Amino acid sequence: MKAGIYRTEKDKERRIIWAAMRASLEASRFKYKRNGKKSKSHWTTFERMLGFLRLGLKLTGLYDKGLKNASEMKLEEHTLFFSTLPGAFDGFKILNLSDFHIDSLNNHEDKIIRKVAPLEYDTAFFTGDYRKNISGSFKNILGPMKKIAAAINPPYGKWAVLGNHDSYLMAEYEEEVGINLIVNETFELEKEGQKIYITGTDDPYYYYSEQALFALEKPLEGFKIALVHTSELRDVAAQNDYNLYLCGHTHGGQICLPNGKAILTHQYEGKGFVSGIWDYNGMIGYTNRGCGVSGIPVRFNCPPEITLITLKKK
Ligand SMILES: [Fe+2]
Repeated sequence: MKAGIYRTEKDKERRIIWAAMRASLEASRFKYKRNGKKSKSHWTTFERMLGFLRLGLKLTGLYDKGLKNASEMKLEEHTLFFSTLPGAFDGFKILNLSDFHIDSLNNHEDKIIRKVAPLEYDTAFFTGDYRKNISGSFKNILGPMKKIAAAINPPYGKWAVLGNHDSYLMAEYEEEVGINLIVNETFELEKEGQKIYITGTDDPYYYYSEQALFALEKPLEGFKIALVHTSELRDVAAQNDYNLYLCGHTHGGQICLPNGKAILTHQYEGKGFVSGIWDYNGMIGYTNRGCGVSGIPVRFNCPPEITLITLKKK
């Protein structure tokens, strides 16, 4: 079993280069997209829109109901079948948490911990967005994230990627918080002499760089899982024979119509990848609705989720 982080000197060097690059992207307040587009973050305009929505919900008496909905996490359990899964990993359980935005709701970490407590799992994957805001201090999330990390102790470790609400500076707290942050890197989990690979990339929604592509293109033979904040790199992962792709970001819409249809997803392509299980050219993907909320702390027709995925050999 290998559940910790070991980085070679070369890997450490790559990480320093990444941090310098991402620092400049974060400072510029633009969104850097894979198709070469560079657009100004629209968060200020969006917040203005949210202000009207908040007012509307309060005037109609729906705000408190939405706030309550945001705290009522649903356990989503899925069994996914793969012919290529190494036998030692048959029945391997993954706890997947996403989009914590842990400072958006009071004591939300305690609710997450309570919901996760009865579950059994072999590893935990966190797919980004730990804080509420997209910039500024994140000091107030360190305590709650540390508490969550202390309560989740699977034998194959806790692995995380950054989202578009996160900062490269969070990497400094990786050890303190007790979560292995994977940035454009691959690590292996070993069980009974067999391995699976996990590759985590930087967030491609605001901070796309070719380093994320290179990480997914690294030649590896075997069962491979990609952790990416959004579904935007699914084609690259599928082309490079990834078996499973886990992401979040959309919050499943957070506010949905009574039929579950999302009104806004912050995902400008890929309407079929808003939540739940999907298939992309034979690669299985899962978009987690997230356990938290952002923008406005309410949910309608779209419960927050705690996800347990069991890998089974076909
Ligand atoms: Fe998010």
